[in-house]
This record gives sequence, structure tokens and C-alpha cells, in this order.
Amino acid sequence: MSGREPLLLAIESSCDETGVALVAGGRRIVAQAVASQIALHAPAGGIVPELAARAHLRWIVPALREVLDTGGLTLPQVDGIAVTAGPGLAGSLLVGIAFAKTLAWAHRLPLVGVNHLEGHLYAAWLLGRDEPERPAPPFPLVALVVSGGHTFLVEMRDHLSYRLLGETVDDAAGEAFDKAGRLLGLGYPGGPAIATAAVGARRRDTVLPRAWLGGSYDFSFSGLKTALRRLVEAELAAAARPPTESGGRLDPPRVAELAWGFQEAVVDVLSTKTLRAADDTAAQAIVLGGGVASNRALRERIAAGAAARGLPVFIPPPDLCTDNGAMIGAAGWQRFLAGERAGSDLGARPAWPLVRPFGTPDTRRPPRRGPAARAYEAALAAERDAAGDVPVAPVRGSAP
Ligand code: KG4
Ligand code: ZN
Repeated sequence: MSGREPLLLAIESSCDETGVALVAGGRRIVAQAVASQIALHAPAGGIVPELAARAHLRWIVPALREVLDTGGLTLPQVDGIAVTAGPGLAGSLLVGIAFAKTLAWAHRLPLVGVNHLEGHLYAAWLLGRDEPERPAPPFPLVALVVSGGHTFLVEMRDHLSYRLLGETVDDAAGEAFDKAGRLLGLGYPGGPAIATAAVGARRRDTVLPRAWLGGSYDFSFSGLKTALRRLVEAELAAAARPPTESGGRLDPPRVAELAWGFQEAVVDVLSTKTLRAADDTAAQAIVLGGGVASNRALRERIAAGAAARGLPVFIPPPDLCTDNGAMIGAAGWQRFLAGERAGSDLGARPAWPLVRPFGTPDTRRPPRRGPAARAYEAALAAERDAAGDVPVAPVRGSAP
């Protein structure tokens, strides 16, 4: 086909959403499908890796079929394939990678492996199927990525170029929302549940601690989580109710007030540091990405601060903030333009960082505790053992 923009097939399976999309010219979403596993993992209150990988296997072919049908396209009309290669759950990543490699091999298409976090960043470049053209974010810009597993602030002076300004030293913002959601007895995932509960708060005077960490751009949410835990425990005890772990719950109006106070503290720190970074780096725009960027309070606070500075702000619509295939198409396009190509040895990189502070070794990790720390350690160990790659062979029978 001539006279049309190159078309990428993009595949995302790093966590708990199977995302497939067709993206034209790196920006225009031609068609997309996201098979969400939220209902599957909700009873466990968190993602169960083995279940996630199996669900990706179950849904990846139907998702591709739906996208091709909606777009009225066939695989021979596709010009290249982009797939998430990390970071994420090893088993889940391998499903998408093996699928993408098989399709690339069968249809003789070029392939590129994409960093999931770069995908969250480049979601801000995407245009909906019927959305009017609009300019892309101008450089230099500052971008805040806030997802379930990562929280960091970077300066971008050009495409694919990142200077790390700050990152979380403990929990990711989404992880903090999820833990707070559990503490308050709200559903999984905690982020949307807290945002919904907060809307109903009648009293809006709960002040929870903010970790400013001096003048740095780093973030910390574990103190906030502990403060919330202490408050909930004390109030449950005062009401002679059992602790949260034993099913004790505060009354819904109080839960709403605490949800509001928690959200307020997270949003205050995220927005204040992002806006200060924009000032300090003379940014021309602010970009937001990752699941937590679908939080309305955060979007409004950043938009207001940006407007006061006369800066354009680029925040994807909520369904493009959470995991999806289209964002991998947007980032993959930039990687293709830069001349990158993956071979049949493309492997999963469960702990692949997008950017590191200058001079730090590959294996640097922020100090973390608990199950997240153990999962992170295991992923790092897997990456070290495999010298950076978990090799995968194409799976037979998964190509449509
Ligand atoms: O980016 P994402 O879909 O997956 C990862 O790459 O981690 O982010 C998921 C995270 C979850 O922690 C979820 O609680 C959070 O994003 N999240 C929100 C909202 N929607 C999703 N957090 C706050 N407010 C929301 N509206
Ligand atoms: Zn994500």
C-alpha cells in the first residue's frame, strides 16, 4: 500500500492486560483491544503471575483477531511489529514476545522490543481513531510516569533521550494506592477505588504526611502508607472492631474521608515536584503517563499548574494511561525510526530499567521491602543469570 503511513502491530502483555493495537505513523490508533484481567486477580487482592501468563495465552489471539477485524486489515498490510520486552512479569512477557516473534517470522516483518515504561511515556503522543490532528509534545519536556510498579520523573530533550530527575525510593505511586485501598477495605485495584471513594468525602480536612525529601525530585510513599495504617488501626480499636486483616472496616463516610486525605497527599507531592521540575529545566511541556495518571485529582492539579505557567500538558485519556497495546506502538515507532531491530533471540527483560542515574550500574535498584522487594530481587536475579535475556523459542500453533 502506498500513500499511507506505516502501520505497526503492537503487543503488550507485561502485567495483567493483554493489549493489541494497530498504530499508523506512530500516533494514530487504527484499532485496539485490551483484555483486562482485573476480575481474574481481584479475589487474590493482587496479581497472581501464573494466572496472568495463562490468561495472556488465552486472550492474545482473540485480541489480535478483534483488532484486525475492527481495523478492516490483514497481517500482510502490517509493516512491522512492536512488542513489550520488559519490565514486567517474566511469564507474561514471554507470551507476548513469543507471539510477536512468531508473527514476525511467519509474515517476514521487522520486529522491535519495547520498554513498557517508554510505552507509558509515548502514550501522550497517541491520537484516537477519530481525533483531529494535534501537535506532538514539544521538547524539552518533563515527563512523570506513575504506574503500579514504577514512579519516576525524567527530562526529555529529544525523542528516546531521558535524564532521570527523580524516582521512588520505596513504593510506586500505584502500589501505594493499591496498599491503601486494601487498608481501607476497598476493592482491587486500589487506585480507582480510592479515587471513587474520595469523591464522596464530606469532610476534606484529613492531613496525612508528605515526604518532600528535601529539594530532591525523588518520591517516597511508605511513610504515608504507615501513617494511614496507624490511623485506621487506632480508629478500628477505638470502635472495638477487629484489625483490617481480620475483616475490620471503618464506616463508609470515614473511609471516604481517609481516601480523600490519602489521594490528596499523593497528588500534592507528585504535582508539586513535577511542576517544580518543569520550572527548573525550562520545559516547554509536561507529559504524564502510567495508570495513576488516570487519577482525576492528579490530572486536574497538574493541568492547573501547567496552565498557570502557560505550558501545554499532555495526559492520555484514562484508558491509554493504564496498560494497552497502542502505547507500545507509539514507542516502538520511535525505536524503528532510530534503526532498532530485534532478532529471533529477543528475550524477556523482567527488570529492564528505562533510565538510570548517570554512572550507576545496571543492577541498581531503589531500596524496597516486602513482597515487592522479593519479586524485584527475583526478577533481577533472573536477568543476571541469563546475562540480560531470558531466551524464548516461538510457540507452535499460536499464529492465527
Ligand atoms: O500502568 P498500569 O496500568 O500498570 C503498570 O504498569 O503497573 O498501572 C496500574 C496502577 C495500579 O496500581 C492502579 O491502582 C493505578 O494504576 N490506578 C490508579 C487509578 N487508576 C489506576 N491510581 C489512582 N487513581 C486512579 N484513577
Ligand atoms: Zn504499565
